[in-house]
Amino acid sequence: MFLTVSEAAKILLNRGIVAIPTETVYGLAGIATDSQSVQKIYKAKNRPPDNPLIIHFFDISQVKEFLDPLPLFLEVLIKEFSPGPLSYLININPNSPLRPSLAGQSTVVFRIPDNKKTLQLLKILKLPLAAPSANSSGTLSPTSADMVLHDLGDKIDGIIKDTTSKVGLESTILDCRNIQKLKILRPGAIGKNEIIKKLHFYKDKIKFAFETQTSGNKIITPGSKYHHYKPKTKIYRINSVEKINFTKNLAIIGSDEEIEKIQSNLQGAKEIHFFKMGKSPKEIASNFYHTFFKVDQKKPKKAFLLLNEIEDDTLSQAILEKVNKMVEV
Ligand code: TXA
Ligand code: MG
Repeated sequence: MFLTVSEAAKILLNRGIVAIPTETVYGLAGIATDSQSVQKIYKAKNRPPDNPLIIHFFDISQVKEFLDPLPLFLEVLIKEFSPGPLSYLININPNSPLRPSLAGQSTVVFRIPDNKKTLQLLKILKLPLAAPSANSSGTLSPTSADMVLHDLGDKIDGIIKDTTSKVGLESTILDCRNIQKLKILRPGAIGKNEIIKKLHFYKDKIKFAFETQTSGNKIITPGSKYHHYKPKTKIYRINSVEKINFTKNLAIIGSDEEIEKIQSNLQGAKEIHFFKMGKSPKEIASNFYHTFFKVDQKKPKKAFLLLNEIEDDTLSQAILEKVNKMVEV
């Protein structure tokens, strides 16, 4: 089940599908230009057929091989942020060789992942990989090979195992179709301010349109209309433990500091499972999905997620967006 990079390359070239590590989350990869491989991804994930797949390239020259001509400002962004957790949405000719991965859209979303093994794989293949997150549709995105194995182990041809994903949240998706209407379609580790800073040369031209994709607007990334990231356990957001009615078999999730505080106040509390997510937004993002995976394995009656102040930084806002999609209201 666990594969070396060259074993994975062979399987992919024979139209198989393989889970690959990236710095954001693990992806379920197939050759992006091959409809048979792409169909296997949809089947394994039970993914709605109208939801297109992100394309992963090796470098900017491979991007240009498939998506020429690129607007100049986009070249600047790619040189600044890739490899890394930023994905770009642009228009594409519907007859492109990438068509099998586009689910009928006239747009493409692509990125260059920042992971040594996956870059090695792309280099051997000389072909781009379509790779949505390697989870069954609607469930938690995987940030470790074990999470992939648990969810999709019997439905895929193997996994390239690496360390856990260091960013831990899906890439930011930036609508790059119009420099005057840049839009963050999915928040992630890279935010508006970092992007604007790198485009200072264009500062009179760029504009950020910041509506989020709500059901009222036209949905640009079809995936955002589906329920995402739900653990099996029901999660309730609280801002103080006083709200908890302590019964057996509960889970309490929070930052290291918050959990340590509660534990010292609750000496002897039985059958409560505590989960520490980390000290900083960076650590919390990186441990985020894996924490909920561990919560599910304990099968608690329910879980309380203790979140007090949410900072205004990019990463905290991205974490909050995921939290809002998974908590009970
Ligand atoms: O960090 C990531 O982006 C990870 C890793 C594996 O690269 N991938 C990922 O893929 O999160 P996925 O499929 O879980 O989310 C991709 C989102 C979906 O909302 C999908 O609808 C949108 O991007 N998308 C993909 N291709 C598109 C296209 N051609 N046009 C519009 N939206 C697209
Ligand atoms: Mg996903």
